[in-house]
Amino acid sequence: MNLFNNTNNFYDNKLSDNNINNNILVKNSSSNYAIEAENITKVFKRLSSHTTLKKAFIDAITFNKNKQVKILKFTALKDVSFAVKKGETFGIIGPNGAGKSTLLKILCKIMKPTAGKIAVKGSLSALLELGTGFHPELTGRENILINGLILGLSKKEILAKYDEIIEFSGIKDFIDEPIKTYSSGMAIRLSFSVAVNVNPDILILDEVLAVGDAEFQAKSKKRIEEFINGGRTVILVSHDKKSILSYCSEAMLLHKGGIIAKGKSEEVVNKYEEIEQAKII
Ligand SMILES: Nc1ncnc2c1ncn2[C@@H]1O[C@H](COP(=O)(O)OP(=O)(O)O)[C@@H](O)[C@H]1O
Ligand SMILES: [Mg+2]
Repeated sequence: MNLFNNTNNFYDNKLSDNNINNNILVKNSSSNYAIEAENITKVFKRLSSHTTLKKAFIDAITFNKNKQVKILKFTALKDVSFAVKKGETFGIIGPNGAGKSTLLKILCKIMKPTAGKIAVKGSLSALLELGTGFHPELTGRENILINGLILGLSKKEILAKYDEIIEFSGIKDFIDEPIKTYSSGMAIRLSFSVAVNVNPDILILDEVLAVGDAEFQAKSKKRIEEFINGGRTVILVSHDKKSILSYCSEAMLLHKGGIIAKGKSEEVVNKYEEIEQAKII
């Protein structure tokens, strides 16, 4: 699980703190919505390609007035507003770089928006993009505990779920080995297993439907369907139109950080195809 994985880079963290809007989380919204996001904007700041860390450091320690350091701003999300009803499976679709993962990281509070408000009702578990959520030096078993604690479970609750999580992951034989010895496939299977076995009210899945072999995929699909049928809220991010159509009633299309379409998933997917054909993407 990527809950450890604050992908804000050093520059972003350092430079954006001043203009972060304080209205990050509005709790206790009284509506029937699991998630309400209003005018979410995210601006990343990074050093220009001509600027090196060494130059930045020298400028800083020499108080150089003619600084060579150039900071570029990049708007990854612009005024994104949407709401997801409790129990709904909501799709987010769009090409690479559209801002989908950035939006999810903001929903999970891994990243702060530059502006905008978010209300999240209920516990939330997320399986973000492939990779790095675990601590590499710790074993699979230790990482399950830490992930569970981060998701708000007590140690007792996690211990009660250990067997189920390990069994589902299918990597029992390696569970006491450090994560750094896992293949990315093994790590993602374990992430997936934690995410779906902690019984969150809201499950967020970022491009992870095609994880593992056919057997694991079938098992994952079944588990996600149980979630959906059990009245949980699911946010599914994918650039695969078929998955969006088969799981989601409502969806939105993101492109270059903005919403291009929002509503019934068929209509949103049609719009995606339209802009793909028009080669706007
Ligand atoms: N930490 C970051 N610093 C700077 N730019 C970023 C950062 N994270 C994402 N971006 C940029 O924001 C844009 C949206 O990225 P992302 O949300 O990952 O898109 P998607 O998930 O839709 O493919 C991309 O252009 C990406 O390069
Ligand atoms: Mg992404």
